[in-house]
Amino acid sequence: MAKVAFLGLGVMGFPMAGYLAKNGHEVTVYNRTRAKADAWVAKHGGRAAATPKAAAEGAAIVFSCVGDDPDLRAVTVGADGAFAGMAAGTIYVDHTTASANIARELHAAAAKKGIHFIDAPVSGGQAGAENGTLTVMCGGDAAPFETAKPVIAHFAKAVTLLGPPGSGQLTKMVNQVCIAGLVQGLSEAINFGLKAGLDMKQVLDVIGKGAAQSWQMDNRGKTMIDDKFDFGFAVDWMRKDLRITLEEAQKNGAKLPVTEIVNGYYGEIQQMGGGRWDTSSLIRRLRKS
Ligand SMILES: NC(=O)c1ccc[n+]([C@@H]2O[C@H](COP(=O)([O-])OP(=O)(O)OC[C@H]3O[C@@H](n4cnc5c(N)ncnc54)[C@H](OP(=O)(O)O)[C@@H]3O)[C@@H](O)[C@H]2O)c1
Repeated sequence: MAKVAFLGLGVMGFPMAGYLAKNGHEVTVYNRTRAKADAWVAKHGGRAAATPKAAAEGAAIVFSCVGDDPDLRAVTVGADGAFAGMAAGTIYVDHTTASANIARELHAAAAKKGIHFIDAPVSGGQAGAENGTLTVMCGGDAAPFETAKPVIAHFAKAVTLLGPPGSGQLTKMVNQVCIAGLVQGLSEAINFGLKAGLDMKQVLDVIGKGAAQSWQMDNRGKTMIDDKFDFGFAVDWMRKDLRITLEEAQKNGAKLPVTEIVNGYYGEIQQMGGGRWDTSSLIRRLRKS
């Protein structure tokens, strides 16, 4: 069992770190808002540290799950950042959804100190984190990945190395492009069916057994019909992910016409006060008219 650290005990990080403790690892946690770290220690044992650097000292693997690029930079190379506390040969695994650029940048900064950096964004949402069934998409070097993989697997159903630094983040972008277009299509379909006077719950039961089936249809279709949007991944986070993706597309020349349009629609949802609604709230734009 390894000595590990976990930085960022939000909706995702809190349960993920919990799985490390439940599987016998000696866990030191850090959270910017100290109360959450104290609550985690009260629930799982272990230790809370005052800074990322203090949490990372003596850890074989340091995990993080914070918000965006600047937050990740703060907990790694910022004042009292984790890298300053890590020994050569140790591994940093970042579960934040961030840009591929920062993953490459931190991989290089870590390498200068002999630290291995793995970008490892996740999909599966809050439920995946709480049930320990996340899908983890990794970029980095093979040897440290193989060392970290069985530890990450405590909160994941799939842990895969997809290529060099940044590849995990690029894979997560592909994931979000798939979801953005699909949720808009599902929104249009449900709104159309409701306007046509169909019993849309029955319709989804029927077409969900055929080629139109999707995770979004199975898990969000009926709550979209019920106009309920309190089911995990928030619009604010989606906009961050789509911004990162569209920036990457500008660099690699990929055309993302539907994603660009849906990103604008999510902007409208934010203006309607829906920043914290889940991503299936795209249908709200259609139903208000
Ligand atoms: N929620 C989901 O369903 C989901 C699914 C897949 C991926 N993700 C991704 O996972 C990441 C975390 O999401 P979440 O839902 O767990 O978010 P969250 O609940 O808002 O938690 C964010 C965490 O990051 C910390 N943090 C933010 N800025 C920081 C900074 N500058 N310095 C230090 N700590 C900082 C926060 O500390 P405080 O407690 O002090 O605010 C908190 O612990 C995001 O990149 C998100 O896109 C989320």
